[in-house]
Amino acid sequence: MLRWYHLFLCVLVVCATSLRAENKETSLRAIGPYLQNPKHDAMTVCLLTREIETASLRWKRVNGGDALVVPATGRSIPGTAWTTWHWRLTGLEPRTEYAYRVAYGPSGASVESQTYRFRTLDREEGVFKAALFFDLHSSTNRLKKFASHLEPDDYEMSFLMGDCWDNPSDINGAQLVFDIMRSYIDTLNAAEKPMVYLRGNHEFRGGFCPRMAWLFDLPNLDPAASRCEQEHQFTLQAGPVWFLAMDCGEDGDRQPELFQPYRELQRDWLSEVLASGEGEQSPWRVYLSHIALYNENIWNSEPSRKCWEELLRGADIDLAMAGHDHELRYLTAGKDYTVCSSYKNAEGVLIENKWTMTPPYPVFMCPQSGFTLLNATPDTLDIRVINASDGSIRFQRTYQAKR
Ligand SMILES: [Fe+2]
Ligand SMILES: [Fe+2]
Repeated sequence: MLRWYHLFLCVLVVCATSLRAENKETSLRAIGPYLQNPKHDAMTVCLLTREIETASLRWKRVNGGDALVVPATGRSIPGTAWTTWHWRLTGLEPRTEYAYRVAYGPSGASVESQTYRFRTLDREEGVFKAALFFDLHSSTNRLKKFASHLEPDDYEMSFLMGDCWDNPSDINGAQLVFDIMRSYIDTLNAAEKPMVYLRGNHEFRGGFCPRMAWLFDLPNLDPAASRCEQEHQFTLQAGPVWFLAMDCGEDGDRQPELFQPYRELQRDWLSEVLASGEGEQSPWRVYLSHIALYNENIWNSEPSRKCWEELLRGADIDLAMAGHDHELRYLTAGKDYTVCSSYKNAEGVLIENKWTMTPPYPVFMCPQSGFTLLNATPDTLDIRVINASDGSIRFQRTYQAKR
C-alpha cells in the first residue's frame, strides 16, 4: 500500500536530482577557479563564467582567522559569452596556507565550489619548485601526458612558457581557447598552484590574440590595451629565485613598426627595475622569455637582444630559460655562437645575414617532447628536463650559488 511517506520520499529524490542537474549545468558555465599573480603577501583568484550574474569568494587563513566573503564585479570579455572575475587578496602572510571557495550563479541560484587551498610564496629564503611547459601548441593531451609524470610535491607553481595556444582563434566565441584553458587549469591544479603565463609568438596570431590577456592577471598587464601595449613583462620573487620575464613579441623582425616600440617600452621598464635594485639580495636571478635572445640557429630574437642586451649584461643573471626552438639546447656563457640566415624578401631578393652572439649567462631551451622541473634552495638551483615518453630525466644541470 502506498503510504504518504513513500510519496514524500519520491518528491525529495526528484527535487535532489533536478537540483544536482541544475548545479552541474551551472558549473559547466564556469572555468576555474584558478590562481594568478602570486606574491609573498598577495594572490589573485580568477574565475571565468558564462551566463552568470553574481560571484563571490569566501576565504580565510587555514590556521586561525575569520572567514571573509568578498563580492566581485565581472568584466565581459569582448566578443565572447564569457565574463572574468578577479579577487585580489592582499596583506597575506608569507609561506602561509589559505583556504577559499567561490560561489556563483544566475541571480537567485548559486553553486559553491569545493574548498581549495593555496600557500603564499616565501620572500628570499626557503625552497621553490616549479614546473615549466613550453610550446604546447594547444595540445591538451601532451600536457596530460607530461602531468602523468608529475607528482604534487614536484611543483608549487606552473609556468606556461609561450606558444601554449596555437594561433588562438575567435571562431565560435573563441570556444576552443576556453576549452584549452579549462583543460590546462584542471591538469595543473591551478586552483591551488598558480599558473603563470608568458606570451609566445603564436599567441600574437589568430583573431582572439589581443584578448588572450583577459584570461590572466600579471603585475603590469592591461587586457584592454592593444596587444603591443598590454605589458606582459614582469618580475616575480619566488623564494630564493628572482624571475625576470620579458615578452619578445613576434618571431624575428616581423612587423617592426608594432613590435619594436613594444620592446623599447619594456627596455625602459627594465631599466627602472634594475635601477631600483629589486631582487639584488636574491640567491638566484633567472631570465625567462618564450624566444631566447641567443641561439646556435636562427630561432632567437635578434631585435629583442639588440634592444635589451646592454641592460641584461649588467643584470647579474644566472640562467636564461626559453622555448620556441622546440629542441633541447644549452648554450655556454661566454662562448661565441655564429649563425647564418638567408631568405627572399617580398621583392624576391635573397637577403643573407651572418652574426655572432656571445651569451653572458647560460641559456637553456626546453624541447617540445619534454617539460622542465626547477628546484631552488638558497644554495643550489637545479633544472631537469623530463621526457614525456617515460618520465625519465633527459637533461639536468645543478648550479651552486655565487652570491
Ligand atoms: Fe612553438
Ligand atoms: Fe614560438
